[in-house]
Amino acid sequence: MSKNTEKINLFRNVWSKFPTGVSIITTLDENKSYHGMTAASVTSVSLNPLLILVVVGTERKSHKFIKLSGVFGINFLTKDQKNIANYFSHSQSNYNDKDLDLEKDIFSEIEGVPIIKKSLASMRCEVFDDISAGDHTIFIGKVHDIISSDNEPLVWSNRNYGQFIQSR
Ligand SMILES: Cc1cc2nc3c(=O)[nH]c(=O)nc-3n(C[C@H](O)[C@H](O)[C@H](O)COP(=O)(O)O)c2cc1C
Repeated sequence: MSKNTEKINLFRNVWSKFPTGVSIITTLDENKSYHGMTAASVTSVSLNPLLILVVVGTERKSHKFIKLSGVFGINFLTKDQKNIANYFSHSQSNYNDKDLDLEKDIFSEIEGVPIIKKSLASMRCEVFDDISAGDHTIFIGKVHDIISSDNEPLVWSNRNYGQFIQSR
């Protein structure tokens, strides 16, 4: 194994120790059909204006679709939505790979932008800026609509899904 590969593996291992919530970034493909991608690299950025960021690999289909449409949704998943996280962590390479029944049940939309039903929270965003960063792009989104519900989050840690346990 080359020194560089070793360093990349160490980097990945170290970051797998950092727990995050699980989001689905939703957007529109070239036919205006709904598209989703599981994402952990999301954060809030600014209150005035309301800005968030998502970090998307340049090879992802979602990268092309967000650039093309200029809009996306962020959806925080609940502990009951692990199947949705799994589904959107494998790229649907073409129409035949899609589970249309599942997609019919889980997608909804706000002002034409897809969102995931029954999420912990969903936000409709418009691309405010994008910054190229190595093999990823940081998309900064301006938040237009926010939906919130009461539930528990899905958590991602050590390459596994789990739940948040409050300390006493
Ligand atoms: C828990 C989890 C978090 C992920 N976070 C990101 C992320 O923040 N950015 C990213 O580009 N890919 C991330 N991925 C990988 C994408 O979900 C995966 O490559 C997906 O198939 C991309 O779909 P697309 O090519 O259809 O857009 C993550 C995967 C998992 C399982």
